[in-house]
Amino acid sequence: MSRNVLILPGDGIGPEIVGQAERVLDQVNADFGLGIEKNHALVGGSAIDQYGVPLPEDTLALAKSCDALLLGAVGGPKWDALDMAIRPEKGLLGLRSNLNLFGNLRPAILYPQLAEASSLKPELVAGLDLLIVRELTGGIYFGQPRGIRTKDSGEREGFNTYVYSESEVRRIGRQAFEAAQKRGGKLCSVDKANVLEATVLWREVMNELAAEYPDVELSHMYVDNAAMQLVRAPKQFDVIVTGNMFGDILSDCAAMLTGSIGMLPSASLDENGKGMYEPIHGSAPDIAGQGVANPLATILSVAMMLRYSLAAEEAAQAIEKAVGDVLDQGMRTADIYSEGNRKVSTAQMGDAVLAALTNQ
Ligand code: IPM
Ligand code: MG
Repeated sequence: MSRNVLILPGDGIGPEIVGQAERVLDQVNADFGLGIEKNHALVGGSAIDQYGVPLPEDTLALAKSCDALLLGAVGGPKWDALDMAIRPEKGLLGLRSNLNLFGNLRPAILYPQLAEASSLKPELVAGLDLLIVRELTGGIYFGQPRGIRTKDSGEREGFNTYVYSESEVRRIGRQAFEAAQKRGGKLCSVDKANVLEATVLWREVMNELAAEYPDVELSHMYVDNAAMQLVRAPKQFDVIVTGNMFGDILSDCAAMLTGSIGMLPSASLDENGKGMYEPIHGSAPDIAGQGVANPLATILSVAMMLRYSLAAEEAAQAIEKAVGDVLDQGMRTADIYSEGNRKVSTAQMGDAVLAALTNQ
């Protein structure tokens, strides 16, 4: 099979963390004889600086022709004042929609070695392993009409449209039911069906789908309650499926339960298994260029990429095991550091993962 990977370092800490992830990718490529070929391109603020647009045509063409994408992060204060249409985030959103990456998998796993980093009591989060399946190319993020207009009275109003078609709900629903089948068999669909019609339909479609997956136990929860339950008793969840905006919010909340947003990878998949892989955290401009960012979420994103898009499960597991090993050794970047461990830089963490891979 062809294994063509497009690397998009992006902005802020993006280039630093992607640099380490690439070293890991190169090593498993050699060790497992995967035949991976790499290309590099610009997206986000770095693309704006060079080409004036967040998603240059060349980048999009490479993105369309590759088998998988590895992205660092986009955005930063430097570009915050730009018009909405050409902000760095538009590069990310443009990739998601142009490549039809509708299914966003955001696992929240608590590494036992990092239990003390959670803001919740250890007994509430010990063993936490939940998966948020977020719809990524529809809903209020993309709904039309949208904009800011001036009313007859002269007052301005902003407006967006929360819209989901049945087919959009069905395809993300299927992905979530299938994920639940492979895990604990429990799926919680999160909506606001007590207020929003778009989510009344969402709930109906999820209920229809449930008949096709008798081995999965489907439940429903309103989004406000889901936010509360996530911080009250997060271990009640196995898989959560929800729309674009609710998923954006709940996945940040779930990530923080693990104490270390710097540890969590994500996958955004199309219908055929092509995907874009990125850490859940952002571009962290405050620490960019200092060599202190945690590269593990990006390294774990490489593992997800090998598993879901490149049919290289063995290599994926080797990376995940290496990450566990370096945590066992007490290696900690600043974001996950606690006393008694060894504080390391971005590159030292990369070195440690490479060494752990070699020692397996
Ligand atoms: C995310 C981010 C993006 C989103 C931003 C950067 C556009 O918050 O991936 O969760 O809102 O989807
Ligand atoms: Mg977000």
